[in-house]
Amino acid sequence: AEIVIVPDRAAAGALVADEIAALIARKRDAVLGLATGSTPLPVYEALRSRLAGVDVSQVRGFALDEYVGLDPAHPESYRSVIHREVVDPLGLDPARIRVPDGTLDGIEHHGEIYEAAILEAGGVDLQILGIGTDGHIGFNEPGSSFGSRTRVKTLTQQTREDNARFFDSIDDVPMHCITQGLGTILEARHLVLLAFGEGKAEAVAGALEGPLTASLPGSAIQLHPHVTVVIDEQAASRLA
Ligand code: F6R
Repeated sequence: AEIVIVPDRAAAGALVADEIAALIARKRDAVLGLATGSTPLPVYEALRSRLAGVDVSQVRGFALDEYVGLDPAHPESYRSVIHREVVDPLGLDPARIRVPDGTLDGIEHHGEIYEAAILEAGGVDLQILGIGTDGHIGFNEPGSSFGSRTRVKTLTQQTREDNARFFDSIDDVPMHCITQGLGTILEARHLVLLAFGEGKAEAVAGALEGPLTASLPGSAIQLHPHVTVVIDEQAASRLA
């Protein structure tokens, strides 16, 4: 992987936004893999100026994951977050941006349907990734198989605690999610992993330098030929 250590989040956002703008300039119908959570926000922020005046009408996007059983209209559903932070401010076509369907009705088919939609779009050109303190990417929690596809998973207690900040209380954080699998993520043509802060240092070191192990799902990125890692000094502090 190419590892870039940046002074702060804004610098990371600028760097990755430049990369995405260049991609869209050479491929008008680029397919973006969109992460949620706090980490990618500086990227989406920086993209506002980079894409002002650019024709983004053909850009497509696929979110990594969604909570299961949360009303899609809830402000913290990933559908809501992607629309609020990405689709609306960047002026993307909502019909071209998909988020896994976490509604319970027919949930057993939603993974397959999502995989088919990604394939039909020609695959993801650039996948933005954050990493959980427990080493998850997407919501592939420890124990996820490297070949896994989009499916329902149970969130770990750690992840529910980490994400409680988005909800009134931890009891409101859903127990389950639907997430692209590690196998799905590895098929994107370019992975861009971002991480900030001391709390991510261990997960980053494990993902980049540890053994390939399902106990640290982020280590799967070592199998990918084109990975860019953009991290601050704190997140880089446990690297050899
Ligand atoms: C979000 C996702 C997760 C987050 C991870 C880090 O779509 O797939 O893997 O990237 O939980 O979350 P933050 O960025 O909030 O620290």
